[in-house]
Amino acid sequence: MSLDLPIHVYANFTVATMVPRGSDSLGLIPAGAVVVQGNRIEWVGALSDLPLDYRTAERLEGRGRVLTPGLIDCHTHLVFGGQRIEDWRKRLEGVSYQEIARAGGGILSTVRATREASAEALYEAAADRLKRMLAGGVTTIEIKTGYGLDLENELKQLQVIQRLARQSPANVIPTLLAAHAVPPEYRERPGDYVDLVCNEIIPAAAPHCVAVDAFCESIAFDLAQTERVLRTGLEYGKQIKLHAEQLSRLGGARLAARLGAVSVDHLEYLDEAGVRELAAAGTVAVLLPGAYYFLRETQRPPVDQLRAHGVPLAVATDFNPGSSPLGSLLLAANMAATLFGLTPGEALQGITIEAARALQLDSSLGSLQSGKRADLVCWDCTHPLELIYGIGAYPNAAVIKDGRLVAGQLS
Ligand code: NIG
Ligand code: FE
Repeated sequence: MSLDLPIHVYANFTVATMVPRGSDSLGLIPAGAVVVQGNRIEWVGALSDLPLDYRTAERLEGRGRVLTPGLIDCHTHLVFGGQRIEDWRKRLEGVSYQEIARAGGGILSTVRATREASAEALYEAAADRLKRMLAGGVTTIEIKTGYGLDLENELKQLQVIQRLARQSPANVIPTLLAAHAVPPEYRERPGDYVDLVCNEIIPAAAPHCVAVDAFCESIAFDLAQTERVLRTGLEYGKQIKLHAEQLSRLGGARLAARLGAVSVDHLEYLDEAGVRELAAAGTVAVLLPGAYYFLRETQRPPVDQLRAHGVPLAVATDFNPGSSPLGSLLLAANMAATLFGLTPGEALQGITIEAARALQLDSSLGSLQSGKRADLVCWDCTHPLELIYGIGAYPNAAVIKDGRLVAGQLS
């Protein structure tokens, strides 16, 4: 801590610290204060307990408004070319996601559009999406590749993600998802594509990504192929995570948990044995209700079992053009409560502290505690659950990243 950095006191806010206390899952402090020095949180508590040292510091008056940690979207595919309106129209007429994928549409149609797009065009489109998400309170976002599916285009996507990380105030976490689908040129020999991923793409991408992900599913990669990809990710020192049990039960979540995955994501078809393995491994379950909703799925993830076994539950948008063109993390949280049965408090934890855990960033992000990064959102409302309760109707947000106002207004 450097003593000459300016100190700001956020005073008289309804502070949702997201540090649970007993039955209070939000860790609420009604007339609360948060002291920020530079880019760090120095002190959090009731305004009446504010230490003398801070009483003369510059104050930002909350007048009862809500203050939360910056929101964290721990699973997105934000960088892509084109859109998938045609897929959506077909699905509304009864064609399934899997049928569209097997006919060469689905993910592969976005691969065609992404390969054709310049890095500049991909950047412009993704930067616009990111700017809107930041204005909605998202200060940390994970972004996956997975629409390049060859060395050149996976690296092109990673470069775009890294440019977003440099140019946006948001904290951007890059994940390599080269094992998202078998590209058309390897259609008859998927094993050769897995070789390419393990022997060339992961080694080249490793310096530019934090994690390696894969899609374990009948329309993507089987268990053995998934295991090779994840083990290679580990060899290169990367975190691993997995799209698992979304459309069927292949056992990917158990495999990933055994390998030490930080998270497994989707999980609609997870069974209780799988839930136990996640609990034993401390792997976070990332729920993606946007994809469940948009694909009109009916199998819900086993939330009661996950909760009963103490598996941490995070929630994310899965923002992508095919299964979840969802740009609102607050709407994802609403859906996690309404469609999957999370309590509203769990849903808000899912997009803050539990999402931080899914990215292994919970020691520095996800809650309002002294020592953490000063990523805060001041919301123009008086109860934090108004954020989850609204459906596309959200209070204005003033977004503070590392102590600096980066979107909205603080007045
Ligand atoms: O998380 N499940 C696989 N991948 C994405 C969908 C990508 C796409 O359809 O373009 C998902 O839902
Ligand atoms: Fe996804």
